[in-house]
Amino acid sequence: MKKTALLLISLFAVVLFISSCGGGQPAGEQKDAAVKATGPYADLPADIQAMMPRGEEIYKTKCTVCHQVTALGIENVFPPLAKADYLLADKVRAVAQTLNGSKLEMTVNGKKFTQEMVPQVDTKEDAVAVINYVLNNFGNKNGFVTLAEVQGVVIKPRTAQPAAK
Ligand code: HEC
Repeated sequence: MKKTALLLISLFAVVLFISSCGGGQPAGEQKDAAVKATGPYADLPADIQAMMPRGEEIYKTKCTVCHQVTALGIENVFPPLAKADYLLADKVRAVAQTLNGSKLEMTVNGKKFTQEMVPQVDTKEDAVAVINYVLNNFGNKNGFVTLAEVQGVVIKPRTAQPAAK
């Protein structure tokens, strides 16, 4: 009986010890994380980091249907956005194409694409956000584009949509 009580007390002490140690550690780590930003966007300016959630939302709702969840596209139909030489060669052009669509014969990573992409977003803010998301995901680590850089891009008037009635 005495032995059992002793055992229980020491067990209790061990549990207390473990929980106090375990509780202290993560709190310290969390504090560090708040001081210096970590994660995939840590090296980007704060205003670019701030647009990433919006960029991700747009990508996942609007782009995946063609460019795919992987951003690898579909051969001969939808060009890749992952490690795409064409995209990386001109970020402002990528923003303009996202805004205004594109109907060109283009060569992306050595493959030809000729299908049309219609305008995908309506504002420069959205186009810049989604392109910055693309530039920093899917194996891309290719910097960013700013709103100031796309100041010269003209948003073309949308072709009239048939009235939805
Ligand atoms: C309905 C299919 C479709 C959707 C949806 C779509 N695209 Fe495209 N995209 C294309 C096609 C087709 C091309 C090739 C256009 C051409 O040949 O002129 C293209 C080309 C591009 C290019 C230039 C080529 C490259 O590899 O860099 C970019 C940038 C791009 N799309 C971005 C986007 C973004 C960002 C979204 C989502 C906001 C999006 N696209 C949604 C079909 C689509």
